[in-house]
Amino acid sequence: MACKKQTVPFAGTPEQEAELKAVIAELKDQPGALMPVMQKAQDIYGYLPIEVQTMISDEMGIPLEKVYGVSTFYAQFALQPKGKYKVSVCLGTACYVKGSGDIFNKLEELLGITNGECTADGKFSLDSCRCVGACGLAPVMMINGEVYGRLTVDDIPGILAKYN
Ligand code: FES
Repeated sequence: MACKKQTVPFAGTPEQEAELKAVIAELKDQPGALMPVMQKAQDIYGYLPIEVQTMISDEMGIPLEKVYGVSTFYAQFALQPKGKYKVSVCLGTACYVKGSGDIFNKLEELLGITNGECTADGKFSLDSCRCVGACGLAPVMMINGEVYGRLTVDDIPGILAKYN
């Protein structure tokens, strides 16, 4: 199960809930409304925690199992929030052969989270990605769009420290 650890407590606002309910009221009776509603919900909240999925299930009269199934099947849906700093490691072929797997493991160890998760303080999230087109700099990682290349495992603590 992808959502094995709730690292950040849910903190939705009444305004977000009202916005989601308005979206559901508008789309509810259209065929195939579940996907667009879930996309809108992710726009509103930034991710789709179980609390939001439950709201969608209740408001649309669709079983929670179905909503959960869709949210875990499609990679576009995030079950965990993203951190203030979004760390993304390229696991494309060129980076992988140059050791990006080790870079990823080091980040998991230092941050205490795994792929798709966010630290409990909301600061860092960790994801893997496919080739970002900077293979000449392999292995590559990005933090909020800033690219770090030709990495070694020993570079990682110093880079993370810049974001503290
Ligand atoms: S494989 Fe990593 S940038 Fe291309």
